[in-house]
Amino acid sequence: MILTAHRVELASHLETAKGRGLLVGLVPTMGFLHEGHLSLVDLAKERSDYVAVSVFVNPLQFGPDEDLDRYPRDLERDLSLLRDRGADLVFSPALGEMYPAGSPQITVDPGPLAKKLCGAYRPGHFGGVLTVVARLFGLVRPKTAVFGQKDYQQAALIRRMVRDLEMGVEILLGPIVRESDGLAMSSRNVLLSEEERSDAVGLSAGLTRVQAAFQSGVRDPAGLRKILAEELSRYPLLDLQYGEVVDPETLEQVGEAYPGCVVALAAHCGRTRLIDNHILTS
Ligand code: PAJ
Repeated sequence: MILTAHRVELASHLETAKGRGLLVGLVPTMGFLHEGHLSLVDLAKERSDYVAVSVFVNPLQFGPDEDLDRYPRDLERDLSLLRDRGADLVFSPALGEMYPAGSPQITVDPGPLAKKLCGAYRPGHFGGVLTVVARLFGLVRPKTAVFGQKDYQQAALIRRMVRDLEMGVEILLGPIVRESDGLAMSSRNVLLSEEERSDAVGLSAGLTRVQAAFQSGVRDPAGLRKILAEELSRYPLLDLQYGEVVDPETLEQVGEAYPGCVVALAAHCGRTRLIDNHILTS
């Protein structure tokens, strides 16, 4: 597995791979990898010939009061996990290598989709995400890039950016990988205290209850939201920020729930903000 922190070196490795006719798949990450990230590497390996993984904690997507300084990092561990999983190349640039001219003057405007769900509470976040993803696409020029359903809104925005800006990258979505009690895996889970960790299960428990209610015939989004809020209120350390039933493409709230709608939520668990979602099935 090749490790590089430099753009010029990255370009030369990719040129060699592409010269051999290999189709490059990219998995962008912020590191502190877990099985969710690694499942995306597996998917990239299935759907491309040469898998590049980026590890970069992108300051542009953190707000001034968010957890950039607390964000967990362990590159050595990440490298060993990626080596075992069969990644071909890891790109882990320092800040100055990713943004050599300082903060970029020209950034991606994520448009109206970024005003919804998490975007309503994290101004500037999705602009920062799309700007770094566009930059990674420019540096790697992959055939395919893999993202997780865990960050549903992020994936929807990336698909939309690729479509609206004709970036010519195939976007694949990997399913949410969960801990055995249902908590969606996240690099931020290590920030939870023992008590917070045990209450964090309320997020997935709430989504499971909404799915059960939908299956038994509840279609009214207000009714589903109420069930979600009730379930979360059973966990004292959870503070629900939003829970919505939305159209999978437009992320607009729906008038009536149907299979394929996304139930998305964000909640604080102590100081840590967690997100989760579920696509309703009949
Ligand atoms: P990060 O949070 O490290 O996530 C990297 C990728 O892993 C994302 O596509 C995310 O959706 C996926 N992922 C995270 N948890 C997952 C889980 N439990 N199951 C499946 N996939 C999961 O998302 C980012 O980094 C950044 O915003 C990034 C796209 C790298 C841009 O900086």
